[in-house]
Amino acid sequence: MSTLKVKKIFILYGGDSEEREVSLNSGAACYKALEDDGYKKLTLIDTKGDGILKVVKDKPDVCLLALHGGGGEDGTIQGFLDSLNIPYTGSGLVASALAFDKQITKIHFDACGISTPDWRMASDEDEQHLDELKDLLPVVVKPARGGSTIGLTIVKDIKDYMKAVKLAKKYSENVLVEEFIEGKELTFAVVCGSVLPAIWIKPVSGFYDYKSKYTKGATEYLFKLGIADKKLGELNDLALDAYDAVGCEGVARVDVIYTGKKAYVLEVNTIPGMTATSLVPKAAAEVGLSFAQLLEIMLKDALGRAKLR
Ligand SMILES: Nc1ncnc2c1ncn2[C@@H]1O[C@H](COP(=O)(O)OP(=O)(O)O)[C@@H](O)[C@H]1O
Ligand SMILES: [Mg+2]
Repeated sequence: MSTLKVKKIFILYGGDSEEREVSLNSGAACYKALEDDGYKKLTLIDTKGDGILKVVKDKPDVCLLALHGGGGEDGTIQGFLDSLNIPYTGSGLVASALAFDKQITKIHFDACGISTPDWRMASDEDEQHLDELKDLLPVVVKPARGGSTIGLTIVKDIKDYMKAVKLAKKYSENVLVEEFIEGKELTFAVVCGSVLPAIWIKPVSGFYDYKSKYTKGATEYLFKLGIADKKLGELNDLALDAYDAVGCEGVARVDVIYTGKKAYVLEVNTIPGMTATSLVPKAAAEVGLSFAQLLEIMLKDALGRAKLR
């Protein structure tokens, strides 16, 4: 039996962000995959409330982070585990905090020359300049901090603009306005610096919103991209550049829109969905890696990095 299988592993999940439900599913799926694979000392910890105190008390060998959204994906839990000297899967504090805030990510992308849709912050003054804003339509209005397409609106008609800003403000103090990019939506899973096969995301409704993301059959996921190899090589490089620019470690997922001419990085997800049918496990399966093997790579990477520190 591999020594990893007898390590004390805590799977941190739940939390109290808007993505709690998604995280509960991710954590439970990781637990099941590892349990079925013969892991002996697994504990699920819901970080909502005082569940987190168990981490301080019982000190696991390693934590598998299945948290999405604020408090889990934003560097908070990473800093907490750093201070306890407990290894954990995925990116560290700084990369997590950077990637979680879309405003900071965009500033960083612009500085690093990573192609991303044109953007600016929404402002209270916007209401007085709706006529000028009209020329920019369609735009995407989204909370700077958050995920799962929550609080995001594609604005086609200027009369919907302020409503969209108000909605996004419910989730985040800062709100981003981005040019809408028409094209193929692609996602690139990166595992410890290696890019897995890209997935073309085709929502039946045409919009990859919360429902399309988490309802069975609501989205088609294709590995046949209809993109020439040379171009695909460039897209892989762009995804890896985005992963590196953020300073990601372990597993991350880079969301891209490709117009047929140019590719734009939307964001980097440092703790992507981790159910057996989520995008990263799907991409791993495409190269012959089971869900449990993928989790094992993540755990080994976490322990290996801890050894180096
Ligand atoms: N600039 C854009 N142009 C076109 N579609 C976009 C744009 N920004 C976001 N979207 C759509 O909204 C979805 C969610 O946006 P994203 O920026 O990835 O935020 P999150 O997934 O964190 O909610 C994307 O997967 C895409 O379908
Ligand atoms: Mg996204």
